[in-house]
Amino acid sequence: MGPRSEYDRILQKQALLCANFSDSIDKTAPFAIEWEPITKTPRRGPLFFCDEFRCHAAHFSGVAKGWCAIMKIHSGFRRTGNSAALVLSVVCAFVLASQCADAQPAPAPAQPASIGKTAQPAPKSSAAWPWTDRSLSAGRRADLVIQEMTLDEKIVLMHGVNALKGTVDTGFDWAAEPNEYVGVVPPIKRLGIPSLKLADGRAGVGNKARDITLLPAPIAAASSWDTGLLNEYGRVLGEEQWGKGTNVALGPSIDVVRVPEWGRSFESYGEDPFFNGQMAAAEIKGIQSQGPIADANMYLTMNQESDRFRADSVVDERTLQEIYLPPFEASVKDGHVGTFMCAYVKTNGVYSCENAHILRDLLKTQLKFDGWVMSDWGATHSTADCANNGLDQQMPDDTFYGAALKKAVVDGKVSIATIDDHVRRILVPMFRQGLFDKAQPGKWSSNVRSPQHDRFSRSVAEQGTILLKNAGGLLPLQAGAAIAVIGAAGDKAPKIEGGGSSEVIAPYTVSPLEGIRKRAGAGVQITYADGSDLAQAAKTAGAAQLAMVFVNTDETEGDDRPDLVLPGKQDALIAAVAAANKQTIVVLDTGGPVLMPWADQVAGIVEAWYPGQEDGNAIASIVYGDVNPSAKLPLSFPRTAAEIPTATKQQWPGIDGHSVYSEGLNVGYRWYDATGTQPLFPFGFGLSYTSFQISHLVVEPAKLELGSGATGKITVRVDVTNTGKRKGAEVVEVYVGHPPENGEPPHQLRAFGKVQLEPGQTKPVTLELDERSFSTFDVMKGRWIVRAGSYEILAGDSSRDLPLHSIITVGHSLSR
Ligand code: BGC
Repeated sequence: MGPRSEYDRILQKQALLCANFSDSIDKTAPFAIEWEPITKTPRRGPLFFCDEFRCHAAHFSGVAKGWCAIMKIHSGFRRTGNSAALVLSVVCAFVLASQCADAQPAPAPAQPASIGKTAQPAPKSSAAWPWTDRSLSAGRRADLVIQEMTLDEKIVLMHGVNALKGTVDTGFDWAAEPNEYVGVVPPIKRLGIPSLKLADGRAGVGNKARDITLLPAPIAAASSWDTGLLNEYGRVLGEEQWGKGTNVALGPSIDVVRVPEWGRSFESYGEDPFFNGQMAAAEIKGIQSQGPIADANMYLTMNQESDRFRADSVVDERTLQEIYLPPFEASVKDGHVGTFMCAYVKTNGVYSCENAHILRDLLKTQLKFDGWVMSDWGATHSTADCANNGLDQQMPDDTFYGAALKKAVVDGKVSIATIDDHVRRILVPMFRQGLFDKAQPGKWSSNVRSPQHDRFSRSVAEQGTILLKNAGGLLPLQAGAAIAVIGAAGDKAPKIEGGGSSEVIAPYTVSPLEGIRKRAGAGVQITYADGSDLAQAAKTAGAAQLAMVFVNTDETEGDDRPDLVLPGKQDALIAAVAAANKQTIVVLDTGGPVLMPWADQVAGIVEAWYPGQEDGNAIASIVYGDVNPSAKLPLSFPRTAAEIPTATKQQWPGIDGHSVYSEGLNVGYRWYDATGTQPLFPFGFGLSYTSFQISHLVVEPAKLELGSGATGKITVRVDVTNTGKRKGAEVVEVYVGHPPENGEPPHQLRAFGKVQLEPGQTKPVTLELDERSFSTFDVMKGRWIVRAGSYEILAGDSSRDLPLHSIITVGHSLSR
């Protein structure tokens, strides 16, 4: 047995003893058991014993260290009620106090030169840490720390750990900082590297956190078409995460909704790559402005939940570049996001977290992303392939990135340069975000709620609720009208959020019945039927002036919906109520589109999404007209099950594990337009209680100048007039149509802007189109190209209502 394997054997034994020992103690005890680094030079006899049972070496010195450690062990044994262990602890105290405290480690065994530092020198004072110099760049500071790190310390940064399961003592006090975060990387106190504490949070702090705010689902926020609102959404999330001690906030989810049945569409922003990119950048900036690093997810082609741990997205390169990559590109270039989460699925046969093309070629080389990629929970499938192909950090444990990674380095399968690159990518955003420079006072138990956040939650629900149908101007409601509220979601079981890792414990819920009753005021007849008995529901509806039926879908991570039909008897409920009362309004609490066979039978349709804790107050504001609806669909609603872009089994959920993206670029409204299919409600559509006119389209210059010295930009200007009697907001949508030879979908969203208008008021709206608006991805050249030709600029208020047209020309081609 050579020195290396002898060393490994002893280390393994130490690690095992530590693990067994920690298993035998009461894990809820408020004390810490922290083991010496397993890389520490092993000793023999009583000193070896010391190594296994010595605690808190980093925090104490001399006899105090030994004594303190023993008191902790002792109190641990006492809690287990094991009296034999008490005796052992006394012996342990004697040994430690007399020998361990002052013991000097023996010289380290020889290590291959290539794996870098392995011995851990004593902690330096922070004054001696050059990386604390804030005047240096994040990259320089990262390089300075890396120079001091041992291989074990580097590996510590590259994976998460579970409470009491850490095998490397980094000075982390597990007891003082209980692991309620969904992912933790312990601090390396010797070098002043702070811990990473990760928590879910797409619509509020998740992972069963209490005393937080439940915001409406991201799809609702995105329906505002207001990047300012998304920025504020991110700020509120970021502030609450930071207040909870989180410094890596897992969100936003930014994948394009390709399949309308996708179980996580409520977590995303919708079906357009440009739109999702704008929303993502705004939200990320908001989150990161409050302290935490944002983690945009899920990278890449995570577009279905069916078979998600095995599913293979078969997608051509151009589609990957033009449809699925842009939200991530905007997150890097505009959002300056610190980290991404690679997905469960495979892209073209290779798991996302070991896919060299998507991680290295696209993300790190093409997009120049200099932060880190962490795996989704359980999405790591290998050690060397992941490490060599671009995965920087395994979450939530060390199955592949702990001992196995160290072995891969020792065996020469992963180079130290590769390890250093991963570590640098983790450290750079940490420095950039100031995690080394500012204290993180938050605790998981902190109450981070505030009246402002409650108000904001309501405002997002109001700004995100879409008026889809309003026959005869039934809405807004007349004061005093007798209303029948029908359906489980109306009161008995309000559907305020989607399921899975984004789930949040709402501090309270205002049901629609409560909200409407409060708004209607005393003396107004507001009745309720939960809808379980159709005849009873119809009777209740028939006895009122108008009926509001609340229906919902139960969407969650881990499951796609089987189809777009409202579950259970909800279609029948609507039909029964509509037959009893012509003045029926359907309110949808869904995370994505549903089929509406009853659409012609009802007077009103409102998409309220998953509206969060303020559900009832928000819907009351909308239906009574306190807030004029101004939201628009961020995805298309189909007319029938067959008329969707991914209707074949091969496309979704896939055959033999392969989901073929045969619709190519024709995702969402692009497909409806390309195939001449009429959706029930198109992308970009939404009504208001007032009316608007968009006019006077001016596009300048009429010729796109490219190349050096040219801006590569086109300015689009329109006038928007409020032609109705109420104050309201309108979204101007600008689409670009390519010349047919470019092979693009008929027209694609490239700019939008929202404007508030008083009745009769006109305001100009100026938007900008950049070079990318006129580009296609050339797969042979591997780059974006602007081709010469005539391009159509279309402006209006939905993807299907674009009355204003103009043409610009591109004189010569340019590739980037
Ligand atoms: C989800 C991620 C989430 C993680 C941690 C996974 O199942 O896909 O979005 O962040 O769990 O909860």
